[in-house]
Amino acid sequence: MDNLINPNDTKFFLEHVLINDPLGYSKDVKNKLDFFRRNRISKPVIYLGITSSSICAGVLDVRIAIESYVSEKNLDIDLVVVGSIGLCSDEPLVDVQLPGKNRIIFRKVTPNDIPTILDGVLNKFVPSELVLGQYRHELYEPWQGIPFIDDLEYFKGQNRVVLANCGRIDPNSIIDYMAFGGYRALSKALRNHTYEEICSMIEQSGLRGRGGGGYPTGTKWRKALQVSTDQRYMICNADESDPGAFVYRLLMESDPHRIIEGLIISAYAVGASKAIIYTRNSNILTVERLELAIKQAYEVGLLGYNILDSGFNIEMSVRKGPGAYVCGEETALIKSIEGKRGMPTVKPPYPTEQGLFGRPTVVNNVETVANVSSIILNGVDWYTSIGTEKSKGTKLFSISGKVSNTCFVEVSMGTSLSKIIDITGGTLNSKKLKAIHIGGPSGFSVLPEELDIQIDFDKMKEAGIAMGSGGIQVIDDSVCMIDLVKYFMYFIQKESCGKCIPCREGSRRMLEILQNITRRPVSENGQNTLERFKGVIHLESLAEVMRDTSLCGLGQNASNPVLRSLKLFREEYEEHIFDRKCKAGVCRDLRTFYIDIEKCTGCTACAKKCPTNAIIGTPRSPYFVVEDKCIGCGICEEVCKFSAVYFK
Ligand SMILES: Cc1cc2nc3c(=O)[nH]c(=O)nc-3n(C[C@H](O)[C@H](O)[C@H](O)COP(=O)(O)O)c2cc1C
Ligand code: SF4
Ligand code: SF4
Repeated sequence: MDNLINPNDTKFFLEHVLINDPLGYSKDVKNKLDFFRRNRISKPVIYLGITSSSICAGVLDVRIAIESYVSEKNLDIDLVVVGSIGLCSDEPLVDVQLPGKNRIIFRKVTPNDIPTILDGVLNKFVPSELVLGQYRHELYEPWQGIPFIDDLEYFKGQNRVVLANCGRIDPNSIIDYMAFGGYRALSKALRNHTYEEICSMIEQSGLRGRGGGGYPTGTKWRKALQVSTDQRYMICNADESDPGAFVYRLLMESDPHRIIEGLIISAYAVGASKAIIYTRNSNILTVERLELAIKQAYEVGLLGYNILDSGFNIEMSVRKGPGAYVCGEETALIKSIEGKRGMPTVKPPYPTEQGLFGRPTVVNNVETVANVSSIILNGVDWYTSIGTEKSKGTKLFSISGKVSNTCFVEVSMGTSLSKIIDITGGTLNSKKLKAIHIGGPSGFSVLPEELDIQIDFDKMKEAGIAMGSGGIQVIDDSVCMIDLVKYFMYFIQKESCGKCIPCREGSRRMLEILQNITRRPVSENGQNTLERFKGVIHLESLAEVMRDTSLCGLGQNASNPVLRSLKLFREEYEEHIFDRKCKAGVCRDLRTFYIDIEKCTGCTACAKKCPTNAIIGTPRSPYFVVEDKCIGCGICEEVCKFSAVYFK
């Protein structure tokens, strides 16, 4: 990876950009900034979005195809790596920009598409079937007939403050970050404000923690500041291990310096001289990008000793967690950094009083930290003008499940949940929306008719749901709610640290009850049904005990999805318990397959694949399924080319 920073570039930014008001930039500085921002390119530029999601979509092969094309044709073209714009299901994305022309984005690009795209664009012809859109730019000429991306529903409904640089700048380049305004907030904070003032600005801005709780960030900072000590710590909680949540990871991979800048300012405000970013060991690219960015910041003098001549010293490092969900809980996270087993501890004392190595420590979520530089740079009034009365600013969400576009978005607080679903393009194949689930394994489902709820910490609480850390799963009729909550409970019981009996045993018991509901009816009789019914009745009392007696949020909130689904989808529970049916056809044990004799050609494919020899017949005559032997695996349905297999 290219880590060479030209000392003259560093000097230019430190002397002319970080310390000057942009209105005061001379013509020379403006020209140079235009050059760094690629506003006046003299040769074509290809931008390739490389993050862990696009790597899964095959972007590394696309990169090879681009490099081969460029070298075979001996072309003079720049290839710039960028992050993700958020449209994960459209990846790999390739942007092409010609001198004087707008940058165009191509979607779902395969290595085979590269010659078509590049032959076309380099000859001023755009293969429109592969195009997502073009960026709007005041200095460039637009392409005719190509939509502007800010007119697309996906971008139109968003307010991209934290995500502003994602997919636009090179995450491996501190120069790129500075060219687009990066580290100016840090410079402003260190040169113009005391740490007390920064704390006050964050308090006045109304920024609330995005890690789920919505605790006022400024208040947390001040609490740590008020403890007299020889050492304070600032930690960025970048664990993000909820199933279905991926936005923080992709933000860190797309714009790592935003996190580093926010963390330096936060550390300054709370008087910490050591800052740590805690993320999962398995987030290989995230760690790589953060570590490179930290290295560059040291090299440029924005980390380390006497930063920007302010007298402020700060050390920063990335700590790789083992990948346990509970390690995202702040006291467990602190134990993990101390080298101990990541288990939560009783609060109080809160980390702000007695945290890492017994010293006052502020733990803030990635998104919370990512907001800090924008607030300092643009001011408190700007920030308080976004959002609702008590929930200021924007909120990030990752959206997955049965949705047309798996993506991440940033919307102003106050946006309705239905608007978020619209932005993503709605359900997959325009199927009927059954619900959305917000907040992962300890979150809540929301019915379509409730989707006018606004994104707001307090309003969501009033509606009986919680913001969570930003994962939304879209659910249609092909999803079985019991199967979904069973998965969440499986996750919770697997991830429980085991310290509290109600969490450890309660989550296991809840899982057993759910498993019992979906278990195959073997020698079924009234007694079994009664047992299942009694189990469901127990869920509520179990949930209460777990909520009241568990030490941390994992155990306290474990029953949220179960209780909510019981309330909203009672019929589905009854069908599973009494009728022994799963309408969605997801619970394998509750389905038996049949063969339509009108459609069956007797091709034998299903009988050959059936793992229990449950399908019998004579070749070229209709086959049939022996019900008692069928385990509901569905292989027969998958292999039948004549749609002759169905389940009941
Ligand atoms: C089981 C569990 C897992 C958590 N995981 C995360 C996480 O991955 N990231 C995060 O920021 N907060 C997580 N939290 C919340 C943290 O304990 C803490 O409240 C948060 O990091 C504080 O940051 P904020 O004030 O900026 O929201 C988790 C809490 C619990 C109970
Ligand atoms: S509630 Fe569960 S995860 Fe939390 S400390 Fe207790 S046993 Fe561990
Ligand atoms: S695969 Fe389909 S068509 Fe062939 S035997 Fe089985 S049910 Fe009949």
